[in-house]
Amino acid sequence: MCGIYGYIQSKSNKKPLETCLDGLQKLQYRGYDSAGVASIHKGTVLSFKTVGKVDLLSALVKDHKYELNTAIAHTRWATHGGLSAENTHPQIDYKKSIALVHNGIIENYLELKEFLLSKGVAFTSETDTEVITNLIAYLYKGDLKKAIAEAFKRVQGSFAIVLIHKDSPETIFAGARGCPLAVGICDTSKDVYISSDTSSFSESSYSTYFMKNDEIAEITSTALTIYASDGKVKKNDLSTIIISKDEASKDGYDHYMHKEIHEQSSLSARILKKRMLLNTFSFKELENDNTFIEQMEHIDVIACGSSYHAGLIAKEFLEEMTLTPVTIHLASEYRYAKHLEKKNTVAIIISQSGETADTLAAFRCKKESFLLSIALCNNDTSTLTRETHRFIPLMAKKEVSVCSTKAFTSQLLNLYLLGIHFSNVLKIENKSYIEELSNIPLAIDDVLSKEEIIKKYAETYACYPYFFFTGRGNMYPVSMEAALKLKEISYLPAEALPAGEMKHGPIALIDENLATIAFLGTEKTAPKTLSNLSEIKARDGKVLIFGGDTHPEITQDVIAMYKNGNDTFASIPYCIAGQIFSYFIAKKLGKEIDFPRNLAKSVTVE
Ligand code: F6R
Repeated sequence: MCGIYGYIQSKSNKKPLETCLDGLQKLQYRGYDSAGVASIHKGTVLSFKTVGKVDLLSALVKDHKYELNTAIAHTRWATHGGLSAENTHPQIDYKKSIALVHNGIIENYLELKEFLLSKGVAFTSETDTEVITNLIAYLYKGDLKKAIAEAFKRVQGSFAIVLIHKDSPETIFAGARGCPLAVGICDTSKDVYISSDTSSFSESSYSTYFMKNDEIAEITSTALTIYASDGKVKKNDLSTIIISKDEASKDGYDHYMHKEIHEQSSLSARILKKRMLLNTFSFKELENDNTFIEQMEHIDVIACGSSYHAGLIAKEFLEEMTLTPVTIHLASEYRYAKHLEKKNTVAIIISQSGETADTLAAFRCKKESFLLSIALCNNDTSTLTRETHRFIPLMAKKEVSVCSTKAFTSQLLNLYLLGIHFSNVLKIENKSYIEELSNIPLAIDDVLSKEEIIKKYAETYACYPYFFFTGRGNMYPVSMEAALKLKEISYLPAEALPAGEMKHGPIALIDENLATIAFLGTEKTAPKTLSNLSEIKARDGKVLIFGGDTHPEITQDVIAMYKNGNDTFASIPYCIAGQIFSYFIAKKLGKEIDFPRNLAKSVTVE
């Protein structure tokens, strides 16, 4: 995981350490366990490190007087070794000549460490990063790119590294295998930016090179040279990208998550407007793909976490709209599963970030076999959008809160709209859904208008130590999403269960200390779910119902929800109700909502 950054000043008067810190702020979505920055000053490696977020590092660096023109930096999500200054990057080698930042995992680091220890190389951290740093230092005989290339031959895993050496203070070296890394030359100042994600570059336009596997870049303020793994110079095909001002602000809300929850109605209206054409919904991005859609025999949806839940919730609708079997795959399991030979599969890959390592690995292992691959993604310059045949933007703008809300809702809405698009191509009846989909912003406004009452219940339920979330039909994956939200930001144990499964075991856990949150958004299964809730009530379990009618025989705690004529799309307001409920529980408990412990916005390790 982690975010890596580098900067070389050319014609601007930007200060390297401060510019790197600005970049790190925008990369913190990739981890925020610790942060560090390094440069070469008067022939020695200079570094600053802190455990914790980038703000702490900025405070440490603030008053420095060093004249520098190059720096590298890192924000960490710990994989190897705990949260300590020693394990913070940049890692510095045993000769004190190299500073290196790293994203990814060196899989054979123990073997390499043993080898280096046998050669008398000393280690000060528990990280795999120190191993590659020391390996390069050990192999260095005056030509750094040769040492890096030799190290790449010996390391296994996926990684991106950026490093500086005291012998070449104005040059940055970079290399990658399976992890994203881009080098951008600012079109006006000619300053060079290197990052795990181009959106962290300063506002400007850039000629950008996206590093490919096992390439090494030698970067100065005047030249960018790319070497292939055999050492030959490669043509660097640059693409232009424009980075606009980072508009993220809380707009008066206490947390980004709360603001992002409230953006969902206007976001849905924007998406519906963009997709509405001739009284139906369609995707211009797929206008040349009708033949593929007509040939389609299977749909594979691949995703992780909330993005996976969006797939689970939409599955039934996609099947109804295409009369085609739809399988929703957890990306982290996909590439290890035995797949039956399937022809004519359309893949839908869902990822807010487009950089989730599990999702990319799963997609890549079957990429060649897909008739058509469609990314639903919120980052138009991500690795995923560059690798799939088609890309459908989530249009959610930047989602800052680690816990996904608006991007998730956009994924779900776009899946429903994709279903309509497919059914149009396949000439399958869909008319009754067009109006109901158009009502989604209203349904969202309705649930947002109930925030005060949801908050009141959240504050009452915040004292419970354990939660069940339950429902039937598509309300079951809605429960999974709600339970995930609660776990992420309140750190409370929460389990999602199909209501009918309760009696097959989990009911043993019920007593007065367990709260069950039930979603009654599916008319046809609501009576059965209510019976299951009665069984909980009979065992002194506490029950809160999101649904239509009152149920005094079970509980007084009922939050009325909007009825949209049809159950399918109820998933969206019910998920938002779950977001609001979790938000106010976490707030009541005083948790760090936008950046919860142990998490990162983009999970770039498998
Ligand atoms: C939950 C959450 C995560 C992500 C998951 C996939 O609130 O944000 O579960 O959904 O890590 O991330 P993306 O969608 O970026 O691939």
